[in-house]
Amino acid sequence: MKEWMNILSLTKPVIQAPMAGGLVTPRLAAAVSREGALGSLASGYLSPQVLEKQIAEMQALTSRSFQVNVFVPESRETPDEKALEKWKTSIPLAEQAPPMTTEEQDWEDFYEKIKLIIKYKVKACSFTFGMPPAATVRELKDNGCFLIGTATSIEEAVALEERGMDMIALQGSEAGGHRGTFLPAKGESSLGLIAFIPQAADAVNVPVIAAGGIFDRRGVQAAEILGAQGVQVGTAFLMCAESEASRIYKRELLAAQGTDTRLTSLFSGKPARGIVNEWMKQKQSEEADTLPYPLQNTLTKPMRQNAAAQQDSGHISLWAGQSAGGLHAATDVKTLLDQLC
Ligand SMILES: Cc1cc2nc3c(=O)[nH]c(=O)nc-3n(C[C@H](O)[C@H](O)[C@H](O)COP(=O)(O)O)c2cc1C
Repeated sequence: MKEWMNILSLTKPVIQAPMAGGLVTPRLAAAVSREGALGSLASGYLSPQVLEKQIAEMQALTSRSFQVNVFVPESRETPDEKALEKWKTSIPLAEQAPPMTTEEQDWEDFYEKIKLIIKYKVKACSFTFGMPPAATVRELKDNGCFLIGTATSIEEAVALEERGMDMIALQGSEAGGHRGTFLPAKGESSLGLIAFIPQAADAVNVPVIAAGGIFDRRGVQAAEILGAQGVQVGTAFLMCAESEASRIYKRELLAAQGTDTRLTSLFSGKPARGIVNEWMKQKQSEEADTLPYPLQNTLTKPMRQNAAAQQDSGHISLWAGQSAGGLHAATDVKTLLDQLC
């Protein structure tokens, strides 16, 4: 039994990836935790009030360990005025976009979520898009919380260990959803897991887990051979009956081939891997001048919400990893975990 699994009383070396945007509810996360893997609540885009309800619901559904994932606020970049005007007129329904939060409000939201994690004695907390402040790390650790950071490079893995993370999730280039990158890279901020896992495992002393493109036992075993102590799986959980992915999202996942995804900033302003759809095709030549995150995300929100209501898969973000081509049927949490372990 690996030490991190012991600390969290797990029987399976699998973390269900936190997936923000209403895709994961306590129903899915609790089903995962009940099977002996680590269920995750995703607090990104949730208000502290909704997160508090979800944590309470989770604790009513299971006494097993689970984690809460938190976005680390980033410094805001000033958008190019010409680009801003262009996107305001070319993104459908952009005029209905809600006001953007300030960086200060994002930090207030962050600290309120940390307070809840401590109040409810949540066993584990993970971070993406950056490193939590040192004082937050100390406070969480003093309260017995196990901390997981997200790295997309060796430099980030080393920095996260120095900041005090107990474990590091290595997000490979295969991964679905947003890149967690927070340090600049000379080349690309994305490494395939075959190269990434052994280099990171050699570079840090804390355990590493692998995230990206894993959908069955072979991926789990390969990650372990390469030096990972477990895996974090996202896309494959979207196909579970317990997930809140919509019917059209699941349909697109089932139809997708391995080469149907790519990285795009067109939805949010931050690179994320998703299934290529109409919006991505239509605006491909404008990738380079998308607005900085989270401005692009705010402006595309009404378009995405409207498309979801109309069941139009062409204008919602269909985040998915390269594993999408390996998903052939609707499933449930128990069956998927049996397939992984
Ligand atoms: C729909 C979706 C939403 C995601 N949201 C988050 C998130 O809120 N926080 C986070 O740390 N990672 C998020 N991720 C990334 C996952 O943690 C993980 O890196 C990825 O799912 C692994 O690749 P896979 O999807 O191929 O399994 C998301 C991934 C997907 C597919």
